[in-house]
Amino acid sequence: MASRKSSQPKRESRDKYSVLLPTYNERENLPLIVWLLLKYFGEGGYDYEIIIIDDGSPDGTLEVAEQLQKIYGKDKIVLRPREKKLGLGTAYIHGMKHATGNFIIIMDADLSHHVISYFIHRKQKEGGYDLVSGTRYQGNGGVYGWDLRRKLISRGANFLTQVLLRPGASDLTGSFRLYKKNVLESLVERCVSKGYVFQMEMIVRARQLNYTIGEVPISFVDRVYGESKLGGNEIVSFVRGLLTLFATT
Ligand code: GDD
Ligand code: MN
Repeated sequence: MASRKSSQPKRESRDKYSVLLPTYNERENLPLIVWLLLKYFGEGGYDYEIIIIDDGSPDGTLEVAEQLQKIYGKDKIVLRPREKKLGLGTAYIHGMKHATGNFIIIMDADLSHHVISYFIHRKQKEGGYDLVSGTRYQGNGGVYGWDLRRKLISRGANFLTQVLLRPGASDLTGSFRLYKKNVLESLVERCVSKGYVFQMEMIVRARQLNYTIGEVPISFVDRVYGESKLGGNEIVSFVRGLLTLFATT
């Protein structure tokens, strides 16, 4: 009996996890990621909600999300759509404003983050961390399915940021993370970025504010359905954001 008890993560009865899923053209992926999350959190007896932030996807992702909400209920599936593609960073901020949990988990909706095995929330409980970040660049973490160009972009972004800002975390641009909600709110108050650069800015600001950061190695597996939304514009705005942070912090 004792062993069974200790295999369960310790948690306060009031803990609630709000999972933010930003989507842009994720019609094929959304049902599966939602099902996996419901299975994991449901069977684990957690209190949780899934907040889908769709940015007017032309492929009809929102209609799929509405179907899922009908099936699983409005308390589990919360829809916070926006009219058009306004960027990944602001999508998280928008979702966060509607979150009712005391913890926020952010992850991609394209199945690149495999929820079940990471125990990001267990790591949080172990160390009481303010932020837990999935890392592809430590321990047995890694990236699967990316071509050389994409690997270089990610490594380059991490390397440049490490050199300029020395944030002292191993994966600065990844987006599988857990935040205490009040911590994310205080970071967002200071946030200036709108797109993919958001992740980097959050972790840099977290360090500045002396928030505690835990890391869990993750395997990032490239999507099967649909395509990445990271384009040249995002890379330019990353570099611009990095230089702004370098100049102002
Ligand atoms: N609502 C909304 N608005 N969602 C968006 C937008 C947007 O403008 N842009 C992207 N998304 C969603 C996608 O639908 C997906 O669920 C998630 O954000 C990640 O987008 P991808 O296009 O799949 O990103 P990636 O696989 O190229 O990039 C991954 O690695 C990057 C570098 O480490 C992601 O994990 C990124 O978040 C990460 O920065
Ligand atoms: Mn992806």
